[in-house]
Amino acid sequence: MHTPGRTSTLSVLISINIMVSALTNILPVERKQKSITPPVEANTSLSVFVDTRVVLHCPNATSDAVIVTWAVTFRNQTSCSRDYRTDNNKTSEKTCTDERISWDFRPDQNFALQINPVAITHEGYYKCEVITPDGNFGHGHHLRVLVPPKVTLSLGENGTTICWAVAGSPAAQISWTPTGDCHTVEERLGNDTVTVQSTCHWEDRQVSEVSCFVSHVTGNKSLSIELNQGAITLEFPASALLVILYVKFSLFLVIILVIVGFTYFQRINHCRA
Ligand SMILES: *[C@@H]1O[C@H](CO)[C@@H](O)[C@H](O)[C@H]1NC(C)=O
Ligand SMILES: *[C@@H]1O[C@H](CO)[C@@H](O)[C@H](O)[C@H]1NC(C)=O
Ligand SMILES: *[C@@H]1O[C@H](CO)[C@@H](O)[C@H](O)[C@H]1NC(C)=O
Ligand SMILES: *[C@@H]1O[C@H](CO)[C@@H](O)[C@H](O)[C@H]1NC(C)=O
Ligand SMILES: *[C@@H]1O[C@H](CO)[C@@H](O)[C@H](O)[C@H]1NC(C)=O
Ligand SMILES: *[C@@H]1O[C@H](CO)[C@@H](O)[C@H](O)[C@H]1NC(C)=O
Ligand SMILES: *[C@@H]1O[C@H](CO)[C@@H](O)[C@H](O)[C@H]1NC(C)=O
Repeated sequence: MHTPGRTSTLSVLISINIMVSALTNILPVERKQKSITPPVEANTSLSVFVDTRVVLHCPNATSDAVIVTWAVTFRNQTSCSRDYRTDNNKTSEKTCTDERISWDFRPDQNFALQINPVAITHEGYYKCEVITPDGNFGHGHHLRVLVPPKVTLSLGENGTTICWAVAGSPAAQISWTPTGDCHTVEERLGNDTVTVQSTCHWEDRQVSEVSCFVSHVTGNKSLSIELNQGAITLEFPASALLVILYVKFSLFLVIILVIVGFTYFQRINHCRA
């Protein structure tokens, strides 16, 4: 007679168990998701010209910051960091010995980092991390350093035309109008800049003028050159020769006139005498 009561208590217990286990299955997931939330972090990209002054800001640094750290990974994969503690007003330059990288003004007022002057080797990832009682914040800057190439165009040997984009970063792109039979080579210089040289010729066609177009992130450049300059230089001596002939002929005429005049006056004098 106790059996139905027992089974009902059992089923209640089982259903409670299921509910509890279902709840405990849901709750830890929700808790985990909350505690795993990463620190507020953002990345920005920045391109700057070489040899300028660069200031990297730490947008999340507020007055309640306890420690501010700048961690740098250069393009050669070496890294360094420097930090500032607000409680004892102390800075430490762990392995950041480059004097061109410094705190912008005083770290107790401004958590920005200054690079002056910036070099190609300073390319890399700069991250500021701020520790505050409310949590940690980070902001990363991908820094790219640009060097405009020096562009020249000239006639080479054997009827070739050569266009150079010297010591640029990143490497420039060279194209021609009209398109010719070209050979382009890139040379990486010791200071990580690149020289691009494009040598072309236009053998089969009648081409009088060609243009070299240099495309680069710092700005594009176009240069033109006359191919048959030889013909022009030949024209000049020919006209000079004509001038010389003309001058010589005029001088000859003057001399003749003087002689004729002289003999005429002499004859008149002779007749009077
Ligand atoms: C920021 O850039 C770094 C380095 O490239 C990368 O590890 C990180 O995941 C990036 N963070 C965000 C939020 O994009
Ligand atoms: C941190 O900076 C980012 C922009 O870089 C901004 O969107 C975010 O709101 C800032 N967070 C705090 C807590 O100030
Ligand atoms: C922190 O130290 C600098 C010198 O290192 C000093 O000029 C400045 O007044 C100090 N700031 C505070 C808030 O003590
Ligand atoms: C890497 O680049 C940094 C920044 O210019 C420089 O201080 C460091 O000496 C370089 N390290 C190597 C191994 O080239
Ligand atoms: C000049 O061109 C000729 C024929 O195209 C070639 O045989 C010769 O090697 C070239 N000389 C130079 C210095 O490039
Ligand atoms: C890199 O080196 C080349 C030649 O060695 C030089 O002309 C150029 O000015 C240098 N550029 C930089 C940014 O140091
Ligand atoms: C330079 O030329 C490229 C194409 O080669 C073009 O996409 C780019 O917009 C040009 N840049 C400027 C500043 O004119």
